[in-house]
Amino acid sequence: MQPVTLRTDRLLLRPFEFTDADDVYAYARDPEWGRYLPVPSPYERRHAVAFVAHSARTSWVTNPVFAISLDDRVVGAINMAVHAPNATAEMGYGIARERWGMGLAAEAGRAVIGWAFGTSDLAKITASADIANTQSWRVMEKLGMTREGVLRSQRPSNAEPGARQDRVVYSVLCGEWEGSAAD
Ligand SMILES: CC(C)(COP(=O)(O)OP(=O)(O)OC[C@H]1O[C@@H](n2cnc3c(N)ncnc32)[C@H](O)[C@@H]1OP(=O)(O)O)[C@@H](O)C(=O)NCCC(=O)NCCS
Repeated sequence: MQPVTLRTDRLLLRPFEFTDADDVYAYARDPEWGRYLPVPSPYERRHAVAFVAHSARTSWVTNPVFAISLDDRVVGAINMAVHAPNATAEMGYGIARERWGMGLAAEAGRAVIGWAFGTSDLAKITASADIANTQSWRVMEKLGMTREGVLRSQRPSNAEPGARQDRVVYSVLCGEWEGSAAD
């Protein structure tokens, strides 16, 4: 599949380019931004360069990653990890702290979910977050996703030894999304 570009009212969602590393570093170096994410801490410029290089080469079938561009600056990213045998995908997102509270994650999520259901055979899209990350699961609710439950005492991928967290899981089914789009 060719790389994909989507437009929303305020955003351009486009493939990452190598020149985006400085924009990514500017927001990802903020420890508050990475508090609930599996990112290195401290976050150095080389981490942004590696993230952008990896994202720019991603497979648009299995791991689509969009740069979220607002006024010609990359202010975040949104991705899907597709599990084809189950026809499911898990969505993840992050927005620069200076742009929090503008509804940008939900705006990007709406476009990406619509694109994913509209162009593939996915039956279900999920998202999950540390239950303490209220900001993240508020986005899932704004997207009309349904809370499936809480996975207790999970081991995060970047965990310190012994660190565990309760993860809240939300999802939306293809039929639900098509129904809500028709409303
Ligand atoms: C989660 C995240 C993507 C939300 O993006 P956003 O575009 O700010 O989302 P919204 O504008 O819809 O705000 C969502 C909630 O965040 C909270 N919020 C908004 N502005 C905030 C701010 N300045 N500071 C703290 N929390 C804030 C509110 O609870 C809001 O819900 P509400 O609108 O019902 O009050 C963003 O906070 C982020 O990038 N966090 C760091 C990365 C991360 O944790 N990603 C998710 C991993 S699972």
